[in-house]
Amino acid sequence: MERTFLMIKPDGVQRQLVGEIISRFERKGLVLKSMKMLVPDRSTVERHYAAHAGKPFFDAIVSNVSSASVVAMIWEGPEAITLARKLMGATKPADSEPGTIRGDFASTTELNLIHGSDSPEAAAEEISIWFN
Ligand code: PPS
Repeated sequence: MERTFLMIKPDGVQRQLVGEIISRFERKGLVLKSMKMLVPDRSTVERHYAAHAGKPFFDAIVSNVSSASVVAMIWEGPEAITLARKLMGATKPADSEPGTIRGDFASTTELNLIHGSDSPEAAAEEISIWFN
């Protein structure tokens, strides 16, 4: 069993895609273990994206994610990290395949709807940031 941290970003909430997105992970067989909706503090989002501090998009993504409600979740299942990222699709919507969340619903990297941990280490760190 593996756990991953997934977050529906403000664009996903505002476009009323929360149910659509959650149902895709449930239908795949992943199990929702914890979930909360919140407007995160800027400091929480800076910790979450700390690996990208200094990159040109850092301020923009921190401002975006801390601007409005997000849905923070812990999901569990065999190879949950890899499975979730396959369902999400590539970071850049131009590269994400139809049938994935980003491939079906996103058209820009700035508004790509969802974040998912990319490694077991990142999942553990992100779960501790968002769920204490
Ligand atoms: S990198 O450069 O390869 O390390 O970045 P990457 O792993 O592809 O993306 C890291 C997160 O930054 C988001 N991102 C952006 N946001 C806004 N504008 C631009 N140009 C941009 N480029 C990357 C990307 O979606 C990742 O965030 P999450 O929330 O994990 O999807």
